[in-house]
Order: sequence, then C-alpha cells, then structure tokens
Amino acid sequence: MRTPLIAGNWKMNLLRAEASALTEAIVTTTSQTNGVEVLLCPPFVLLDTVRAAIGDSDVELGAQHLYSEPSGAYTGEISATMLVDAGCKFVVIGHSERRQFFGETDASVRHKIKAALDAGLTPVVCVGETLEEREDGSTPKVIERQVSVALERFKPEEVAKMVIAYEPVWAIGTGKTATPETAQEVHAFIRNLISKSVDKQVAKGIRIIYGGSMKAANADELLAQTDIDGGLIGGASLKAEEFSAIIKAAS
Ligand code: 13P
Repeated sequence: MRTPLIAGNWKMNLLRAEASALTEAIVTTTSQTNGVEVLLCPPFVLLDTVRAAIGDSDVELGAQHLYSEPSGAYTGEISATMLVDAGCKFVVIGHSERRQFFGETDASVRHKIKAALDAGLTPVVCVGETLEEREDGSTPKVIERQVSVALERFKPEEVAKMVIAYEPVWAIGTGKTATPETAQEVHAFIRNLISKSVDKQVAKGIRIIYGGSMKAANADELLAQTDIDGGLIGGASLKAEEFSAIIKAAS
C-alpha cells in the first residue's frame, strides 16, 4: 500500500564527475529492483548533472532546500518553480541542519511547504528531537510541535501529498542509529497525530521515512517496522554499494 521511498540526501558533497558516476550506479541498481521509489537530492549545482545521468530511468530528482517566495531580490536563494524547471519532483524542507545552522523555524518550514505544494513539488518535511530533548523526555512534545506547526492550515488532500522524515538529531552523522523500536515508536506517534489532527485515511497513506545513520547493516530491521516507510540517508547515500544495498533491503 505505501510504496517505500529511499532518498539520498547528499548534503554539501560531491563534484560533477563523482555525481555522475554515483547516479549511474544507482540507476543500474534500480533497474534490478522493484517496488521502491528512489530519490536523489544533490546540491543545487549538481541537479543538471544528476538529471542527465538519471536519463529516462525511474530514479527521482529532488533538492535539499528552497525559498518560499516565487521570485525576486533574494540573493542566493532558489524558488520552487526553479526546482521544477530543473527537473525536481521533491524537495527536502526543514532539515535539522537548516534549522541548526541557517535559522529555519517551524513557521518558515510551513511557508516552504506551501511554496513547494503550490509548484507541484512533494515536500519531504523533516522533524526530530535533539539529544538533550530526548534525554529530558520531551521527544513527544517536540515532535508534536514540529508536526503540528508544519501541517497547520493545510487541507487533508495537501497533507496527503507530503512525506514526513523523522530524523532524530542525535542520530544524524553520528553512527548512533535509533533502535528499530525507538524509531517505530516515534513514527507511530506521528501517524497517530496526523490521524487525530488531519484525517484518518491521510494518516494511513502518508509515508513517514527514517533518517539518521541508516546504512546497509541496519536498513533491514528499520524498514521492517510497521510505520517506517523508507529512509532519508546522508553518509551512506554517497557510497553506491551502501545505498544500493539499502534500496535492495526496501524492495
Ligand atoms: P546520516 O545518514 O549521515 O546520518 O544523515 C542523515 C540525514 O541527515 C539525512 O537527511
């Protein structure tokens, strides 16, 4: 029912030749696997290169960020329509690194989701608690706030077009993955929240993917959880073999 989504967030990594080679390897993997949607999110300047290497395969292209205004005097920013024009179908919004280093807030995340939806992009909305928040027991409160503010004022049919990524900040790039049980617990919490605050059917259909030190060695057990519908992968998405193994685990 929910097609697994395996997404590579390349962050600020790779140059053109590396991007082409990695994409070509992923295209080969996807030609041998079924039932998984595969998404690559390179840096803006590599979108064209990756798009060319994707060719007419089923691999999808996405960006890591956008600005909510449609155009204008916003030096250094990229709009949703520019991303569509570059061949993107998806855009990551509210990644914890954007929240931590670039002042992204729950409210700016909501504006960006709106811009993405208006342009026909699928937003991959990131939420997740810090280590401090996990340790002091405020995970449910933090997740509830992030999800509620992000989804506020959207119609159920709009929420249905989104993907939610649960990325515990303490698990990102640290090698410390959430246990499958811990991740499942938060995923179920998010689905329940959407069921109560948006719509039951939307909650059943929406994909909630996990991110945070996901790799070939732990993908199987994470993806086996009822409410984990895929992965948003950083480090391991930069290695063709690792990322291919994760795709295979999801298929
Ligand atoms: P890592 O897989 O490197 O922990 O990164 C996860 C992430 O932030 C994906 O968006």
